[in-house]
Amino acid sequence: MDAVTRIERTLSASLDRVDTTAGPKLLAAAMRHAVFPRGARIRPRLCLAVAEACGGDDPAAANGAAAAIEFMHCASLIHDDLPCFDNADTRRGRPSVHRAFGQPLAVLAGDALIVLSFQTIAWGASASPARLASLIVAMAQATGLPSGIAAGQAWECESSIDLGEYQRAKTGALFAAATVLGAAASGAEPEQWRTLGERLGEAYQVADDIADVLSGQADLGKPTGQDLALGRPNAALSMGVDGAMRHLERLAAAAAESIPPCPGAADLKALTLGEARRLLPKDLSQRAA
Ligand code: IPE
Ligand code: IPE
Ligand code: MG
Ligand code: MG
Repeated sequence: MDAVTRIERTLSASLDRVDTTAGPKLLAAAMRHAVFPRGARIRPRLCLAVAEACGGDDPAAANGAAAAIEFMHCASLIHDDLPCFDNADTRRGRPSVHRAFGQPLAVLAGDALIVLSFQTIAWGASASPARLASLIVAMAQATGLPSGIAAGQAWECESSIDLGEYQRAKTGALFAAATVLGAAASGAEPEQWRTLGERLGEAYQVADDIADVLSGQADLGKPTGQDLALGRPNAALSMGVDGAMRHLERLAAAAAESIPPCPGAADLKALTLGEARRLLPKDLSQRAA
């Protein structure tokens, strides 16, 4: 079964487990709106690629870890779009969750998806209980204080921000979770995979910063030009577009170099460099080539 099918099936199965006749229908609908239809699913695909590169001996644990990362990502997007953060009306080309369901259900759908993320890890790892603790700890580390998504978003409330620290927390942490959980799900030493995820995450955010400065809304399915409007740190604004592109290329090369020795290393390196090229807006990737 291909990676995307594994991811979509696990996401659906987890949502079906909690969306029962006993619960409030609108909350379940708001959660589904945030998860389907899919975005790039880049984090869960990375998680499965690392799990396979590490031997892939427990596909259920890997599927659970990958889906958990996507639930956490979708939760972070719901909260990020709220009026008290980025006040974004669209996401993935449709109304954002608070525009479709109202703010109370958007807050709650984000909360419930965070919880579902941890449940999904636990359900997936039921045949490998010895791996469960490291999976849960790594996901928590990507989410809270001092350097998870919540911390990253909270830097926006501080009077001074370091761009690298901000991006490593708000975006890099979940990419690091993708590589670390992928390894842990396959029983490999997880921490040696952290650098790859961190570098890919930082590269991904730099690409998003470039797109925020250059693209029109039709391209991305979400508002652009927001970082300047909201006074958010942005690599393309602080380094210039060419400087940010060079930074992205350096980060992608450093990511590919940090892949630990493993049977699937060559494939993973090709995937990493290919994805980095795909991240650039089309006219820029032609310029880069
Ligand atoms: C958006 O992430 C938030 C960033 C960190 C740039 P994605 O670009 O992965 O969003 P989806 O999941 O494809 O919609
Ligand atoms: C979102 O960052 C990253 C999260 C942790 C949710 P941005 O605010 O830069 O991403 P977009 O442009 O809304 O997707
Ligand atoms: Mg934001
Ligand atoms: Mg935003």
